[in-house]
Amino acid sequence: MIKKFGHDGARKYYEFNKRGLKRIEEIVKKENIDCDFQKVNNYLFAFKESEEENVEAEAKAYMEIGIHGEIVKIDSRISPYKALKITNQANFNPAKYLKGITDKLLENNVKIYENTRIIDIFEKNGAVAISSERKRIKAKRAIIASHYPIYKGFNFYFMKMIPQISYSILSGPTDIEIEDANYINTISNPAIALRFIKGEEGRLLNISGASHDAKAFKPNLEQIELLKDYGRKNFGIKDFPYAWCTQDYSTTDYVPLIGRVSKTIHIMASYNKWGMTTSVAAALLIKDLMTTNFSEFAQFFRPERVKLTKKLFTYNLGMIKTLLKTRCVPRQSLLKLPPDSGKVVKVGNKRVGIYKDKENKLYLVDVTCPHMRCGLRFNQLEKTYDCNCHGSRFDYTGKLLDGPSRRDLYKIEIDGIKNHLTNPSNE
Ligand SMILES: Cc1cc2nc3c(=O)[nH]c(=O)nc-3n(C[C@H](O)[C@H](O)[C@H](O)COP(=O)(O)OP(=O)(O)OC[C@H]3O[C@@H](n4cnc5c(N)ncnc54)[C@H](O)[C@@H]3O)c2cc1C
Ligand code: FES
Repeated sequence: MIKKFGHDGARKYYEFNKRGLKRIEEIVKKENIDCDFQKVNNYLFAFKESEEENVEAEAKAYMEIGIHGEIVKIDSRISPYKALKITNQANFNPAKYLKGITDKLLENNVKIYENTRIIDIFEKNGAVAISSERKRIKAKRAIIASHYPIYKGFNFYFMKMIPQISYSILSGPTDIEIEDANYINTISNPAIALRFIKGEEGRLLNISGASHDAKAFKPNLEQIELLKDYGRKNFGIKDFPYAWCTQDYSTTDYVPLIGRVSKTIHIMASYNKWGMTTSVAAALLIKDLMTTNFSEFAQFFRPERVKLTKKLFTYNLGMIKTLLKTRCVPRQSLLKLPPDSGKVVKVGNKRVGIYKDKENKLYLVDVTCPHMRCGLRFNQLEKTYDCNCHGSRFDYTGKLLDGPSRRDLYKIEIDGIKNHLTNPSNE
């Protein structure tokens, strides 16, 4: 941050996020939301001895912009090397927090509409959103907070936002005695973040990380194994019954895109895996813009600041390689596909995504990404089809979940290709 934006910019980013955290705490107290909110320390730790210099560099940066940090040693099971402690951070359960907020909103007669996919928003005497059923929704103003911004405009967000996949595992109840805090390592492979979570059965250890750019083609189950391996070796935990993977967008300057994109339309996106505090701070920024037409943070986060530079073009040129790579699918037989698993196979001239559910029912979809025609890959962990190019994701029935695509995948009639699927001579 200091390198890119100087001390004032880095301080601004810190103050902005601090504002988000303070607001969450205020809401939790005022509305009395039971969401396991607790003030904790955060430790940025070195994973290897060679990374201690990262911790020291970060401590120096903190000092330069006036954040109180202290170099300490943490529980050696997490890491025996140096760590940087920062106080007054927080942990909470975001699902319980959101439930508390939506309950309050409903009590106050605020209407929440679900299952209405918006496929476009534009400006015409206010904001007009178009739903996937081609209905128009008109409003004085609109805020787009849809992870990947729906707004088409002249923006090329798909070229400016880099999808990154991260993984997370959760243990069963554990009696490991380690300070309740947030632990995260400096740049390393795999990235590791740890925290304890209050479960109904007791205290559970959550390990997240092993992140990579979507275009890196890493097998999801192997990334999960990296995290499990760390948990087994460092804490002796044999079993992690829960595992997920998910995706978040980052900009090339690591600063989110927040603000006005036209007179009545605002976006908030690309939180670079820090969206809990940042999204709340973003909401405050947009509220300030709407009510007073001013925010001290508006200039720093303005969405139009990310220009299509040579670096971005070079990055996106690499997408042609990704596109070609994802469109090559070896011909395979489906005969060995076990229940609850999927594959992308070539049937005739078509690339077909096939998922077989636990009851052996087949779901077939055309796995050409509707956005720019990259080939989708099956994600065995989440049972989704993911696009390595710009991050569109679909469930195994073809329903769009996330990303720049605007529609679901085409379903394929089983009858038409049944022969190919059951006859090994068609391999
Ligand atoms: C492993 C991992 C760990 C993380 N840890 C932290 C952490 O410790 N601290 C932190 O601050 N952040 C963390 N994050 C990041 C944080 O979870 C995300 O940045 C944040 O949830 C993104 O919020 P969002 O509102 O942009 O998107 P979402 O939470 O995805 O919400 C978008 C909403 O828009 C809806 N939507 C999408 N498209 C449409 C459409 N076309 N029409 C209508 N509705 C639509 C979706 O259904 C969804 O409800 C972590 C992320 C990962 C992956
Ligand atoms: S081609 Fe862009 S998201 Fe798939």
